Amino acid sequence: MPKLDILNLQSLGKDGILDVMHLAQKNKFDRCAFLETKCLKDKKVAIIMEKPSLRTRTSFECACVDLGAYPVLLCDKNSAFSRGESDYDTIKVLERFVDAVILRTYEQSKLKALSEYVSIPIINALSDDFHPCQGLADLLTIIEHKGDPYNLTMCYIGDASNNMCNTYVELACIMGIHLNIACPKNFGPSTKMLDFIKSSPNSSFVQIFDDPKLAIKDADVVFTDTWVSMGDEEKSTEIIKYFDGFCVDMELFNLAKTNAIFMHCLPAHRGLEVSDEVMDCERSVIFDEAENRLHAQTALLQLVFEKSLF
Ligand code: CP
Ligand code: NVA
Repeated sequence: MPKLDILNLQSLGKDGILDVMHLAQKNKFDRCAFLETKCLKDKKVAIIMEKPSLRTRTSFECACVDLGAYPVLLCDKNSAFSRGESDYDTIKVLERFVDAVILRTYEQSKLKALSEYVSIPIINALSDDFHPCQGLADLLTIIEHKGDPYNLTMCYIGDASNNMCNTYVELACIMGIHLNIACPKNFGPSTKMLDFIKSSPNSSFVQIFDDPKLAIKDADVVFTDTWVSMGDEEKSTEIIKYFDGFCVDMELFNLAKTNAIFMHCLPAHRGLEVSDEVMDCERSVIFDEAENRLHAQTALLQLVFEKSLF
């Protein structure tokens, strides 16, 4: 049976990403009409969080309610995948109850394996490698603030080995948008991501720098993310030492275009990867970005159900 799993942005491709953008803009523009449709009435969607979450969990739960679907929350330690039951048995049981599974977990390989065991769609709500839902909300925010993204330069400053940078690399390569990355030497994209860039027809759109001042020059969009991702907290003191000079403060942000916007997927560590002054300045769009999680994921759920036959 055909189904659409969202393991990363490559699962959607350019057409799928554009479909999500169009649908999200339409629903957001005419929200009253959209809320009346309840187009996923009677569907049940499991939301499983193996790492903490505010935005992703809340936005998916609200998206389900807006669409008329019932969100089944399995976020505590006594629920799915945390009792010693095999992943295979767990997902096969869930498949008998729900119509889709949204999962935040560690290994990307777990999402892939689960998607192969069942005929219901699996959606990645963040893994160690990718955060596709955040990538969609970010593109929606960029389009809202900057219009057509194709002539823009995005700049990511920070840990380029993490799920957010991987997702921006996917966005750049799939959509054909310029991306400058600035990262400390030991925190560059993985070999797998470098191979992905090399194999893309848009490989020249991605450039990697070790000096944030060079990377940010002429940027229209500036992103950063935490230097210590979930799961790496024990190594935080050691990791943070490498990021001297990588804080997006006003002095650095002022080297981007004068109308550049600042974005952060949140949660942020104010005073580490970004200063309060940048977080709270007029060109910071962080809360629009957070709100767009709802609109992007509502559209994503619609698309996933439309493309998956039951
Ligand atoms: N940006 C993001 O995914 O936030 P949460 O970890 O709060 O879900
Ligand atoms: N890179 C961060 C993103 C949080 C939304 C993490 O994985 O913790």
